[in-house]
Amino acid sequence: MIVLGFETSCDETAAAVVDDSRRVRAQRLLSQHDAHRPYGGVVPEIAARAHLGHLDRLVAGALEEAGIGLTDVDGVAATGGPGLIGGVIVGVMTAKALALATGRPFLAVNHLEAHALTARLTDDVAFPYLLLLVSGGHCQLLAVRGVGDYRRLGTTVDDAAGECLDKTAKMMGLGHPGGPALERAAQGGDAARFALPRPMVGRPGCDFSFSGLKTATRHALETLPPGPLSDRDLADLAAGVQGAVTDVLVNRAGHAMTMMDEAGDSEPAPTLVVAGGVAANQTLRAALTGLCDTRGWRFVAPAPALCTDNAAMVAWAGLERLRLGLSDPLDFRPRPRWPL
Ligand code: KG4
Ligand code: ZN
Repeated sequence: MIVLGFETSCDETAAAVVDDSRRVRAQRLLSQHDAHRPYGGVVPEIAARAHLGHLDRLVAGALEEAGIGLTDVDGVAATGGPGLIGGVIVGVMTAKALALATGRPFLAVNHLEAHALTARLTDDVAFPYLLLLVSGGHCQLLAVRGVGDYRRLGTTVDDAAGECLDKTAKMMGLGHPGGPALERAAQGGDAARFALPRPMVGRPGCDFSFSGLKTATRHALETLPPGPLSDRDLADLAAGVQGAVTDVLVNRAGHAMTMMDEAGDSEPAPTLVVAGGVAANQTLRAALTGLCDTRGWRFVAPAPALCTDNAAMVAWAGLERLRLGLSDPLDFRPRPRWPL
């Protein structure tokens, strides 16, 4: 079984081909970061126009790289939401058109489900597992019991972890997107120099909160001399924010493990999977590895390039649904909001 998939819900335009032996046969991705950088964030109109301008060429390139023609695919998948509506429309309409032309099924993929199932493409992971989904727009802990079968254990009460990293990075004068820039800036920094809060840590349950950390970062910046930060101040503050976000995520994931254990959801093979753009962060990956070592859980983190938005994860989620006999009607409407 071969599925062609598209991702256009934010600022990456991507097309990929995957098969049911878990092989990524082709992957084409164009990041629009340069186009959005002058604005310090993603501009929806610019994103939609860029998707429209590039997707066709990326699809053709992916098919060529995979060495197949359109009629060789068994299904055409696109992110159907959640995301920026203009971009989602571009991907969905392209997928519908190709599905209609080839007579193959159309698959509208929930972008969060695509992140959630990526670990089953990259690693031999069986259901059920605990998922820490950390991206720019979402921050959730989910018990993944099967395709389309998710139990939400915790979510953020305000901002997503990635949003917090992006906003604090912007305050520090780092470029867009903030997460990777902050990770680079934090290298060699002293994470303990600034006393930053760990919102929610120690509280029961596994919800998150990050807005207090943003405010505390602004206050920390106000204690420093005005103007551009010195290399030392930048490294220490970036390391401090990264450390605080990591501590919160690890604490909440630990609570979710206990909730999974208590509900009998972690058996037979207790596994924690991390996904979403923030999962590319090496400090977070190392801390989650430590947590799983302590608790005797298996830890699975897809390669960083498959944690940030990509089309292989969309094609894979489409394939997982297709092989269960699921597909979507051609009158599917893009869903800017679409909770898992
Ligand atoms: O999953 P994703 O690519 O897009 C969404 O669905 O939101 O996640 C993007 C988020 C952004 O907030 C970005 O700053 C963050 O992931 N991110 C990182 C890293 N790479 C991307 N955060 C920390 N460290 C990274 N290396
Ligand atoms: Zn994403």
